[in-house]
Amino acid sequence: MLVGSYSLAYNRELKMPILEGQSLDFQSHSPEQTIRIGVRLGELLELSDLICLAGDLGSGKTTLAQGIARGWGSLDVVTSPSFILVNQYRRADQQILYHVDAFRMTGIDDAYIIGLHELIEDKAPVLLEWPERIAEMLPPERLWITLRWVDELHRGMQVTAHGLSYERKLDQFRRSAFGG
Ligand SMILES: Nc1ncnc2c1ncn2[C@@H]1O[C@H](COP(=O)(O)OP(=O)(O)OP(=O)(O)O)[C@@H](O)[C@H]1O
Ligand SMILES: [Mg+2]
Repeated sequence: MLVGSYSLAYNRELKMPILEGQSLDFQSHSPEQTIRIGVRLGELLELSDLICLAGDLGSGKTTLAQGIARGWGSLDVVTSPSFILVNQYRRADQQILYHVDAFRMTGIDDAYIIGLHELIEDKAPVLLEWPERIAEMLPPERLWITLRWVDELHRGMQVTAHGLSYERKLDQFRRSAFGG
């Protein structure tokens, strides 16, 4: 099923997120749940995917990235790339997943210096924290996830697909993570 055009909705009775187009909005109730949700997305990652993880400090971007990397099949432990800017994770079939943190980047020049544009064009998926810092250099097609702090254990997540392949992926993700 492909998705049409949309707005956000959250069915509080069913506790199920509703996909009304290219955005999906839901809440995670624990770090473990965020990881499980990430695993579902990670299982769907394809070679050239760009997954942007936006949201304030402590909103759960790295926690979600841990789940995504696990679902993708990472052999490596996922850590925050805050200080070294880019982490690389390996999989048994030698594929690479990049995990980039733009928090300390002062602008798109820094992103070019670390070769982010090449990583994105490379045949490897990229997880990008703080994408809003370097939005001008990002390709228009991407999956954009905005996390927001609700309370100590709850995080809101809004997943927005930009581009047809990401709309398909978002729909697959919705079915895989939430059923239906
Ligand atoms: N539902 C939840 N989902 C994700 N993390 C949660 C949740 N509830 C509590 N937490 C906690 O919030 C913190 C999130 O930290 P995390 O490093 O993932 O955030 P971040 O967005 O990557 O922060 P930063 O901007 O510093 O990189 C962790 O300590 C985690 O255990
Ligand atoms: Mg982080």
